[in-house]
Amino acid sequence: MFGSRAGFVMAAVGSAVGLGNMWRFPYRTAEGGGAAFVLLYLAMTFLIGVPMMVAEFGVGRRTRLSSVGALRAVGGGVWVPLGYLFVLTSLLIVAYLSVITGWTIRYALDGLVAGYSATPGARYDEVSTGSTAVLFHVLVMGVTTGIVWLGVKKGIERASLILMPILFLILISLAVWAATLDGAGSGYAFYLTPSLSALMDPVVIQGAASQAFFSLSVGMGIMLTYGSYLSGKENLVREAVIVSLADFSVAFIAGLVVFPVIFALGLSDEVTESTMGALFISLPSAFGEMGAIGRVVGVSFFVALALASITSTVSLLEVVGAVGIDEFKFTRRTAALLAGALATVIGVLAAMSGDVLGVLDKVAGEFFVVVGVLGMSLFFGWRMTEPGGEVAAGASPGIARSVPALVFLIRYIIPPVLAVLAWVAFRDMVNTVAG
Ligand code: PHE
Repeated sequence: MFGSRAGFVMAAVGSAVGLGNMWRFPYRTAEGGGAAFVLLYLAMTFLIGVPMMVAEFGVGRRTRLSSVGALRAVGGGVWVPLGYLFVLTSLLIVAYLSVITGWTIRYALDGLVAGYSATPGARYDEVSTGSTAVLFHVLVMGVTTGIVWLGVKKGIERASLILMPILFLILISLAVWAATLDGAGSGYAFYLTPSLSALMDPVVIQGAASQAFFSLSVGMGIMLTYGSYLSGKENLVREAVIVSLADFSVAFIAGLVVFPVIFALGLSDEVTESTMGALFISLPSAFGEMGAIGRVVGVSFFVALALASITSTVSLLEVVGAVGIDEFKFTRRTAALLAGALATVIGVLAAMSGDVLGVLDKVAGEFFVVVGVLGMSLFFGWRMTEPGGEVAAGASPGIARSVPALVFLIRYIIPPVLAVLAWVAFRDMVNTVAG
């Protein structure tokens, strides 16, 4: 169990905040047409993300088991495939998240060794695909596997909890600095003025939902596992709101850095060519503009981000490894090695080709997470007995009164909405892969 309430909230924030906020959010916003995507992402975070995080905490606290075991204990064998979907999603995500963590380390070294390049688009191409990318990905997977193998997450979790506030401070300072740039205005216009037509575009809506789930770490059984360490005293709704607010704020502030920089420094063409590189094209340029201080800030930023990402890769590989241990009776070492080797191989493909990375992100980060959350809403709303009672335990009287509304939402509103979004994601995925 967690020693304190603060410890639990920090751990959940630690899982939520990471590359999803800083790399994926700006990239998906750039593709989703800007402000409309941001607004939809806000709505999805609080209308679906928060209730579903509460649901995962609730299932975990009720069963005290991790994903596959929890689903089987409450629902029987028919729910086991949902657990395996969580495992598959985690495996695919860790494979390419490791590649991107590798870019982060590469950019930290850039600042340390040579300073930030004046041709950020070209530099991004060199860093993001090819032998350098493969090398750093293998390094990150090696570290991740080693941590899961030894079962020593504590140290790096603690380090990342210390570094997280630093990351946040650097991000806020960068946002203030970006506001002073000539031409920042068009960046804000793109980021903050929504167009009505995009707000109604099903693909944009679905993208915003997937981004919210990815960023909150819901739909993969991760928050469920955290919930299994809770006692009956915690107020699940309040904790989910706090975690989600923190997660949204970090992403939003990352956007307040990336978009003004892209427009003020004239990087739009480079970013349009590789949207996935939005963060990695804009930030080094900003650090380059700042001279010597920029190198110090840049190195600190990328080192902190790399550590924050490694906590994510570790928690994802744990999900995969845990099933090996619990279901297949492997030793921890065998399970870690097998899971790590599998993720390394898949990730190498993503490190050799940006297209493969894009496809993996589409399949796991867009489609599977939506299906995972859909499955979870059905499980919590329809299979678990007295789901409301679990949520109400530990809640304040005010929140306890709103629990029936929350359960209603998870039973009747969220599943049909997600079924439609899953279909939209499926079609979009098929189109992308076929194209
Ligand atoms: N939520 C993390 C992020 O935003 C990524 C992640 C997803 C971590 C799933 C763990 C599990 O970067």
